[in-house]
Amino acid sequence: MIVIWRVTTHCNLGCGYCAYDRNLPFERADVDEGTVLRMARLFSEYQSRTGATVMISWLGGEPLLWKPLASVSKMLSKELGLQLSATTNGTALKSAALRSMIADDFAELTVSVDGPAAFHDRVRRWPGGFEHLRSVVTQLRADTQSRERRLRLRVNTVLMAKNIHLFGELCEQLISWGIDEITFNQLGGNDRPEFYREHRLRPEDVETLTKMLPRLRDRLWAHGIRLSGGSQYLHRFRASASGERLRVDSCNPGKKFLFIDERGQVAPCSFTLADYDVHVDELRSVEDLMTLHSRYEQRRSHWCDDCPSTQVFEKFVA
Ligand SMILES: C[S@@+](CC[C@H](N)C(=O)[O-])C[C@H]1O[C@@H](n2cnc3c(N)ncnc32)[C@H](O)[C@@H]1O
Repeated sequence: MIVIWRVTTHCNLGCGYCAYDRNLPFERADVDEGTVLRMARLFSEYQSRTGATVMISWLGGEPLLWKPLASVSKMLSKELGLQLSATTNGTALKSAALRSMIADDFAELTVSVDGPAAFHDRVRRWPGGFEHLRSVVTQLRADTQSRERRLRLRVNTVLMAKNIHLFGELCEQLISWGIDEITFNQLGGNDRPEFYREHRLRPEDVETLTKMLPRLRDRLWAHGIRLSGGSQYLHRFRASASGERLRVDSCNPGKKFLFIDERGQVAPCSFTLADYDVHVDELRSVEDLMTLHSRYEQRRSHWCDDCPSTQVFEKFVA
């Protein structure tokens, strides 16, 4: 089971497409540390009882800004036997202590890079950001060489009309970073409709992507880098670009994937948080976790009539 946990809505970057852009004026929140530890014990028990591996993946805002992250991660990995992951903007990775903790305790780390230097730094409003990431990611790879377990290092990029033609160049530059995988999102429009209108992928952009992927995939694989995003995923992109709705009858909610937000709401994905009234405070036993599936199946979210959830469409399949 993969549990994505949005531990904070604080962020230190101002990405114009993101709901957590530091310039947006809304009240930010952090998750309660005690709640995370209690739920982690429950997931650990779930893991022992069912034999299923549980991976906790920290999300934000910027998750590496959440103050208890290092101590909590150590406890979850070393004492509770949970797998750990995070998606980060990478600003905090300049800290050698943080990199060392990640190399010791994480199974994977996803770093967001939205294009070659000029594009990345502009869209993330972070001068020098790309070069910073190149330096800290290669350093992190070096840090992990001596470890028993190899950290899986991934770069995720958001594709939009103005960077689609730069994706090949970005992949070429990433070859020297020591990463294992490249994944991509299409720009989503839920959070920042004004940005989306101007930058969304058009049908011709999706065709450009579809044509470039096989060659790029071979090129990267020759360097041991996997380029993810299967045919279902491209089908989702094509449908979004042309305004076609993609209905999902059931994604087997609550079985393999959970999303928890900073206030403790638990849903099958980030989009459906408001539709299922489930809070971590109600989850006290492994049985409670196991009944989530039937609770979610009782009510259908309107989001499922045009599902935007990347994992449902095989983002991680090549
Ligand atoms: C919300 S961010 C949080 C983690 C971290 N601050 C970061 O920048 O990676 C998680 C991922 O979602 C992506 N993202 C943010 N807004 C998006 C949007 N409107 N459409 C698609 N992906 C988006 C980011 O680029 C990042 O890879």
